Amino acid sequence: MKKLLQMENIERHYETPAGAVKALDGVTFEIMEGERVILLGPSGSGKTTLLNCLSALDSPTAGSYMFIDQVVPRNNSEQMTSFRRENIGYVFQFFNLLQDLTVLENILLIQELAGKKDPQRAKELLKLVGLEAEIDRFPGEISGGQQQRVAIARSIAKHPTLLLGDELTGNLDTETSNKVMEVLVSACKQEKITSVFVTHDEGLVRYATRVIRIDSGKIVSDKSLDNDLKE
Ligand SMILES: Nc1ncnc2c1ncn2[C@@H]1O[C@H](COP(=O)(O)OP(=O)(O)OP(=O)(O)O)[C@@H](O)[C@H]1O
Ligand SMILES: [Mg+2]
Repeated sequence: MKKLLQMENIERHYETPAGAVKALDGVTFEIMEGERVILLGPSGSGKTTLLNCLSALDSPTAGSYMFIDQVVPRNNSEQMTSFRRENIGYVFQFFNLLQDLTVLENILLIQELAGKKDPQRAKELLKLVGLEAEIDRFPGEISGGQQQRVAIARSIAKHPTLLLGDELTGNLDTETSNKVMEVLVSACKQEKITSVFVTHDEGLVRYATRVIRIDSGKIVSDKSLDNDLKE
């Protein structure tokens, strides 16, 4: 397996009136191509902060971050944006769909920005997440769980190298959540997409090849699971 990315001693500090908060406090790990990582940890432990640093939405305060052979840009919004467009799919904790675009248009836009327009694939993905009938509706006209499924379809629509998800099944019932995870895992396998999913749901561990636990900005455990590596 080839190495996809490496973080070394990553720190992310926030200055607040009450003093500095160390949201990430010396995080070191590498991720190999094709791994499916689940990131677990209590509220406030630094999970979203870590995803934001992985995606170059946010800049670490200190430490090094390499993606393939590239130093990941920081403190430069243009370079960070093009890094994201090229490499990253992200399902946010509060899925941010564009309200003025239909379900289908939300997906076409992301593909277009990445230079990978493919309406056929957009429609197939919406079918896979069970939203065939909703493609021409606006986000305000569908339920929270349906919006979340649009965000999930959108995140893989451009074939990202790295797929990040923050509580991506948080609003779905168990049955829909399992269906969506199966769609995601099979897309990741077929297209060799590496993934890191944040969750509070220990039930999702069975879809992962590796589980990392974080507490107070530090990695407290990191385990590869052999249950899935056999495939
Ligand atoms: N913009 C900010 N300014 C100051 N402190 C922040 C900011 N964003 C996050 N923090 C702090 O950094 C720490 C990590 O926050 P983070 O959002 O990464 O947690 P999380 O693990 O994603 O939690 P949750 O499970 O509740 O989403 C928390 O102590 C939080 O209060
Ligand atoms: Mg969070």
